[in-house]
Amino acid sequence: MDFSNEKITLVQPDDWHLHLRDGHILNAVLASTARVFRRAIIMPNLLPPVTTVEAAIKYRRRILAAIPEGISFTPLMTIYLTDDLSPDVIELGHKEGVFFGAKLYPANSTTNSADGVTDLQAITPLLETMERIGLPLLIHGEVTDPDVDIFDREAIFIEQKLIPLLSRHSSLKVVLEHITTEQAVQFVETCSSNLAATITPHHLHFNRNAMFDGGLRSDFYCLPVAKRERHRIALRKAATSGKSCFFLGTDSAPHLRSYKESSCGCAGIFNASVALESYAEVFDEEGVLDRLEAFSSIFGPDFYGLPINKNSITLEKRPRVVPDFLEVRKADNSVEKILQFHAGETLNWSIASN
Ligand code: NCD
Ligand code: ZN
Repeated sequence: MDFSNEKITLVQPDDWHLHLRDGHILNAVLASTARVFRRAIIMPNLLPPVTTVEAAIKYRRRILAAIPEGISFTPLMTIYLTDDLSPDVIELGHKEGVFFGAKLYPANSTTNSADGVTDLQAITPLLETMERIGLPLLIHGEVTDPDVDIFDREAIFIEQKLIPLLSRHSSLKVVLEHITTEQAVQFVETCSSNLAATITPHHLHFNRNAMFDGGLRSDFYCLPVAKRERHRIALRKAATSGKSCFFLGTDSAPHLRSYKESSCGCAGIFNASVALESYAEVFDEEGVLDRLEAFSSIFGPDFYGLPINKNSITLEKRPRVVPDFLEVRKADNSVEKILQFHAGETLNWSIASN
């Protein structure tokens, strides 16, 4: 890595947790990721979700077709676990090189998770198969019991669900996605090398107050929901710690403006267009820009057993104001918008155009 106060050159990063959606949204958002990241793990929470080998192959084809000319980008596909999924599907998709991981959404935990898993014990045969073939389990770690306070759902998931799961499946590779609490940080850093966590840019930048700043602000609503300031500080410490169990996963989750600006607004923040610059800001503020590359480009491939990317990318200190919206052109040629993370703010780091 090459780095000075004004310029930093990194091994090209990967995004280990990404929502691309489908159709016109996929076509509008993909370039934001592919211009920066070489590979990304693609979340399967489409409607209907990706629950077969065939659906994953077709979705991968649609993603490949949407990559802008001249850009190399590899989508790493995941299967959406359900109560009645057959272990044979997992085994086949893995054998054919289609599935890179399997995503566990506790039923009704987040956007498009209604078909998710209702009982973790019931999917023991699936998890045993994954353990045997070495397919990683990617977890949305929140309990869904309506009696549990929303701000406690991650910490309680770790205690009640994750610890027993890891002891039942001690050789399963597990990623606790988009962690938001100091409990998650502490748990992951003291656990075995089979467990890692991704951290989003947005959870490093704001705490739960952002959702209520002068009014109800759905733009800052995502799941797991942002927590108190002390949790944000713990996440920043973890991300910038240089510990290999924490790595980049943006959880960029685009929703059209009309679905965010609603009395029941969708959870999710679209950050793909500013993600690397946003992480760079955090590492710079913490005075450890020299650790950005490991977090963005090394620890992820190491955990997943993939080669590190050969290309590099340069960030330079060139402040720029983030435009508010990304435009999405629909089939009837009408235009909708998606709000970008950091809209209207100035970010100090920009990607150099070579
Ligand atoms: C994600 C989405 O919109 O698909 N939303 C979010 O708030 N993060 C789903 C998820 O990762 O929870
Ligand atoms: Zn997500």
